[in-house]
Amino acid sequence: MTVLVTGATGFVGSRLVPALLQDGHDVRVLVRDRTAYDGPDAVEVVEGDVLHVGQFEEAFADVTTAYYLIHSMKAGADFEARDRQAARNVARAASEAGLSQLVYLGGLGEEGDELSDHLQSRREVEEILAGGTYELVTLRAAIIVGDGSAGFEMVRQLIRRLPVMTTPRWVRNECQPIAVSDVITYLREARSLPPGTYEIGGPDVLTYAEMLRRTARVSGKRTPIIVPLPLLTPQLSSYWVGLVTNVDWRVARPLIDGLANPVIVQDDRITEYIDIELTPFDVAVERALAEHRTTDTAGRRTDEQVK
Ligand SMILES: NC(=O)c1ccc[n+]([C@@H]2O[C@H](COP(=O)([O-])OP(=O)(O)OC[C@H]3O[C@@H](n4cnc5c(N)ncnc54)[C@H](OP(=O)(O)O)[C@@H]3O)[C@@H](O)[C@H]2O)c1
Repeated sequence: MTVLVTGATGFVGSRLVPALLQDGHDVRVLVRDRTAYDGPDAVEVVEGDVLHVGQFEEAFADVTTAYYLIHSMKAGADFEARDRQAARNVARAASEAGLSQLVYLGGLGEEGDELSDHLQSRREVEEILAGGTYELVTLRAAIIVGDGSAGFEMVRQLIRRLPVMTTPRWVRNECQPIAVSDVITYLREARSLPPGTYEIGGPDVLTYAEMLRRTARVSGKRTPIIVPLPLLTPQLSSYWVGLVTNVDWRVARPLIDGLANPVIVQDDRITEYIDIELTPFDVAVERALAEHRTTDTAGRRTDEQVK
């Protein structure tokens, strides 16, 4: 039975594909540019852009489970409109193809809270995908810790560059980061879950300030002095992140907006179905940093080259 992975070039998708192959599945990926995809040879590659109706639907033919790991944050200010359209197109194409199950990885954030545009958009995508005829399994996660995660990259570069940080006061809000390896385990196992929404998080609930301090400690850097400023708006913060890191401001802005929302697991129903030993935050950070050093040594551009 074929399993389809959309977003296969992304941070999560590129890790999920080899894991699914290891589980013995036939894996098909949907990518926008076939020539830029350097995944495993055993994968069937279909080229298509989900925003272009008529150009991607064949990817859903004869598929039992598909993973929805697409988002458009890198596309800039109109990411909500793109993500809305992408979800509509996929819900329609997957339903018409008779897909049995769709697994979507979305964002954590309390219902009823004033969610940031980014989190609202992730929630809207969930609602649109729920309109299809397949069974939908949604996993909601906060920041995922791993090399290449935009959120974690901001943390890594900030503590590397700034001994003193002025931050929005939301830096005192709590979040529940999760190791990318644990996310991949949940996604692999998600195929056996009854349809519904499940929240996933790591074993540590931390404020954003604690996350910065603990990442600094694990990296062997000086603990940053964090000064929350009530007047530092998200807009200013994202310009500031853009100045001191090479994280694209279009990606930084929605992520920083999201700091205003506490993102912790309220409903741990998933533990009734999937029992995994969660990776402690410090271990996840150690692994992410080790992987970052390896990929940099292998020739990827480094922070120093960018600045
Ligand atoms: N990273 C985190 O910390 C985190 C935390 C919580 C939840 N999540 C969720 O996890 C999911 C995956 O996130 P990620 O961090 O892996 O994202 P990512 O690295 O930015 O990858 C996004 C993927 O979407 C693809 N894509 C974008 N627009 C597309 C289109 N029009 N047609 C086809 N493919 C398109 C991109 O392909 P191209 O290579 O062609 O651009 C890329 O493969 C998202 O739903 C996100 O909300 C992530």
